[in-house]
Amino acid sequence: MNPKSLCFTILIAILAIFISRFIIDPSPHFHKIIIDSSLTLSSSSCIIMKFIPFDFSDFCRHRKHPDKGKPVSVCDDFPPNIPPPETNTTLTLCVDQNGCCNFTTVQAAVDAVPNLNMKRSVIWINTGIYYEKVIIPKTKPNITFQGQGYTSTAIAWNDTANSANGTFYSGSVQVFSTNFIAKNMSFMNVAPLPRPGDVGAQAVAIRIAGDQAAFWGCGFYGAQDTLHDDRGRHYFKDCYIQGSIDFIFGNGKSLYEDCQLISMANQVAPGSKSINGAVTAHGRASADEDSGFAFVNCSIGGTGRIWLGRAWRPYSRVVFALTSMTDIIAPEGWNDFNDPSRDQTIFYGEYNCTGAGANMSGRAPYVQKLNDTQASLFLTASFIDADQWLQSYNS
Ligand SMILES: *[C@@H]1O[C@H](CO)[C@@H](O)[C@H](O)[C@H]1NC(C)=O
Ligand SMILES: *[C@@H]1O[C@H](CO)[C@@H](O)[C@H](O)[C@H]1NC(C)=O
Ligand SMILES: *[C@@H]1O[C@H](CO)[C@@H](O)[C@H](O)[C@H]1NC(C)=O
Ligand SMILES: *[C@@H]1O[C@H](CO)[C@@H](O)[C@H](O)[C@H]1NC(C)=O
Ligand SMILES: *[C@@H]1O[C@H](CO)[C@@H](O)[C@H](O)[C@H]1NC(C)=O
Ligand SMILES: *[C@@H]1O[C@H](CO)[C@@H](O)[C@H](O)[C@H]1NC(C)=O
Ligand SMILES: *[C@@H]1O[C@H](CO)[C@@H](O)[C@H](O)[C@H]1NC(C)=O
Ligand SMILES: *[C@@H]1O[C@H](CO)[C@@H](O)[C@H](O)[C@H]1NC(C)=O
Ligand SMILES: *[C@@H]1O[C@H](CO)[C@@H](O)[C@H](O)[C@H]1NC(C)=O
Ligand SMILES: *[C@@H]1O[C@H](CO)[C@@H](O)[C@H](O)[C@H]1NC(C)=O
Repeated sequence: MNPKSLCFTILIAILAIFISRFIIDPSPHFHKIIIDSSLTLSSSSCIIMKFIPFDFSDFCRHRKHPDKGKPVSVCDDFPPNIPPPETNTTLTLCVDQNGCCNFTTVQAAVDAVPNLNMKRSVIWINTGIYYEKVIIPKTKPNITFQGQGYTSTAIAWNDTANSANGTFYSGSVQVFSTNFIAKNMSFMNVAPLPRPGDVGAQAVAIRIAGDQAAFWGCGFYGAQDTLHDDRGRHYFKDCYIQGSIDFIFGNGKSLYEDCQLISMANQVAPGSKSINGAVTAHGRASADEDSGFAFVNCSIGGTGRIWLGRAWRPYSRVVFALTSMTDIIAPEGWNDFNDPSRDQTIFYGEYNCTGAGANMSGRAPYVQKLNDTQASLFLTASFIDADQWLQSYNS
């Protein structure tokens, strides 16, 4: 056994032990034991990190190293005044994986939110990677997930289309309720990278299937189709999104502002014309559907040779505006899913984009260079009728 595989085996063993003990005895007491035996939160997060098939090293960078000399209680650093007192319009639930407050898993906190509650329920989630699958049912509207930074708080799971009975159910987090908000945290799918020829390896980080969801300062980590922007109106601001094939897909009506879109597709040989990814696969199926993805002031980078979008369904609608693109974007820019009949019905627009990938001279004929009037529909939050709902979220 070479040192590398030995190290890997040991890590698997530690992870297995960690998970099995966690499942057998998830009590706060158990977490204190773990800490006392110096397997700290920071090292457990970093161990799990080793299994993540992409770079997530930021996660360990800001960790404090425990002072070996004096005994520390894991809850000493716990911020005072958390959770804040409840009001007649908000309910606060607190999650800490070391048992320093009411819940040790995010799902347990979601389960504790009353059905059909009209108050906003803020689920405050302390630093750590929460290795669990989280489902927010339709009956629980108005939930906020508040993390401590997108490189500090994350929910991760590793289902694939194969293990979850379909791509749509592979999401580590699945949101079916309305009015969901997430702030300063990450959503990850840590399934192993698919090998060439693997079937059913799609692995979604989050599925957003409720109307009026908003994300501020969030990270979305996956290896291929990461963000299932399924249906409803959604807002993303200052988010980091990585993936490779169709990494933002679905039939949502969404505005992405000031987001970083990073392709994880394999490097391609210089001069090769092969394509190995796409930023979007928007799924608008008919002219009656009011859906579309708008990207404003975003940046696209990373590796591979990719399209901005491909026409998952015939009326696919996507606009990139004021966005910088590196040369990973193929000159034709977009793809009609090899179905020329879709060229008449898809709406793919670009407006004032910059960078080597934004050169429109080689674009497919159906791609539109939008003028100011056309673009104006996609540039502001009114695209998602945000005057009706988004403002109240930011308070
Ligand atoms: C909440 O309580 C405050 C006073 O504490 C009151 O002024 C306000 O009307 C209440 N709001 C609702 C929605 O009940
Ligand atoms: C959380 O814990 C506090 C005491 O630490 C308790 O008063 C409160 O009712 C608990 N909340 C829930 C939702 O369990
Ligand atoms: C809670 O959700 C309901 C149903 O979506 C909505 O009508 C209500 O305005 C929401 N309340 C808050 C505080 O967001
Ligand atoms: C997810 O990870 C667990 C623990 O490492 C493993 O047993 C399981 O097979 C993985 N699932 C998939 C679909 O890879
Ligand atoms: C998987 O999906 C198929 C088709 O949607 C369904 O018939 C089957 O019951 C599902 N199996 C499980 C285990 O959920
Ligand atoms: C989110 O993080 C940013 C940058 O760290 C910080 O400025 C902001 O106050 C945080 N917002 C919330 C709601 O957590
Ligand atoms: C565009 O995005 C950058 C980087 O996220 C940000 O610093 C800048 O303020 C944004 N510009 C506008 C006009 O929103
Ligand atoms: C887009 O580019 C046009 C032409 O260069 C310019 O007139 C317009 O002001 C730009 N729009 C924005 C929003 O920057
Ligand atoms: C755009 O691409 C065309 C053809 O590949 C090239 O001739 C032209 O110089 C490029 N324009 C810019 C601004 O790079
Ligand atoms: C923008 O494009 C639309 C559709 O091609 C056209 O009807 C309109 O006159 C154009 N507006 C401007 C200001 O060029």
